Amino acid sequence: MIKRPRRLRSSELVRDLVRETRIEMDNLIYPLFIVEGENIKKEIGSLPDVYHLSVDKLEEEVNELKELGIKYVMLFGVPDEKDEYGKEAYAEDGIVQKATREIKRLTNDIYVITDICMCQYTSHGHCGILRPNGYVDNDKTLEYLSRIALSHVEAGADMVAPSDMMDGRIGHMRKTLDAAGYENTPIMAYSAKYASSFYGPFRDAAHSAPSFGDRRSYQMDPANTDEAVREVELDIEEGADIVMVKPALSYLDVIRRIKDNFNMPIAAYNVSGEYSMLKLAVKNGLLDEKAIMESIVSIKRAGADIIITYFAKDISRMLRK
Ligand code: PBG
Repeated sequence: MIKRPRRLRSSELVRDLVRETRIEMDNLIYPLFIVEGENIKKEIGSLPDVYHLSVDKLEEEVNELKELGIKYVMLFGVPDEKDEYGKEAYAEDGIVQKATREIKRLTNDIYVITDICMCQYTSHGHCGILRPNGYVDNDKTLEYLSRIALSHVEAGADMVAPSDMMDGRIGHMRKTLDAAGYENTPIMAYSAKYASSFYGPFRDAAHSAPSFGDRRSYQMDPANTDEAVREVELDIEEGADIVMVKPALSYLDVIRRIKDNFNMPIAAYNVSGEYSMLKLAVKNGLLDEKAIMESIVSIKRAGADIIITYFAKDISRMLRK
């Protein structure tokens, strides 16, 4: 036998030498859920080992993140007050604005990305402004989304990530940010965001489940991939700097297709349902924790340059072992 593939598997050293995919902390973004109030660090029931944090607890959190080598966070606000127009989302003293200012006050070593959406802030839980018939009014919503993005950037956000799936939001937001002098603030677009059941634990964590209906008139049908290519194309035309596929694990084919079709940084969101399933299986001894690394590697191998994951802390600890 001349060809023996096992030669390159025969020792740890040679396996390390030929490994094709590596997970590095530099490519991971860790989501944080910020709540109103003081002295709150409360584990989220649906997301084991993930916490609701009040702004005053961010110092402790930031220290832990630095210790673990986590440099990128994505902020989600869980406001006390909701209304039809999601006014808290763009309030100067809104929860994300306060948290952003606090992290920026504490350190220059953490890059703050904010999720731009309305569902946590609207009384009806939809990602935009409703028409009387319950349909999300696309063009009216754009004004609000841009206003939210601008208020986050004014508070110090380094990057914004719109997750609403309205048409034309990237272009609208780009124009708004540029007009205010923020032409160097990048936009990471949730471009191919599917109407997925894997967001269940997040909606519990962010109190953002729609009070009626579902999100299928704005988020994508899980059965489609041509549509993902069209969505990504539009977002790039409108000025997106990074494009995202969400969720990740059930959509690895979409990640690969986007990576092969566009020369852009691709992010993938390893969503709450993907996290909780695996986390609970590991906690209950059904799976070894190596399964976590294997699933994150699969997302990177599929073509994601950047991974947003609740596993960032676990991964940091595993990489150090
Ligand atoms: C807001 C938003 C959602 C997620 C990120 N941003 C929920 C949704 O669209 O219903 C989901 C994240 C996760 O499940 O981890 N629109």
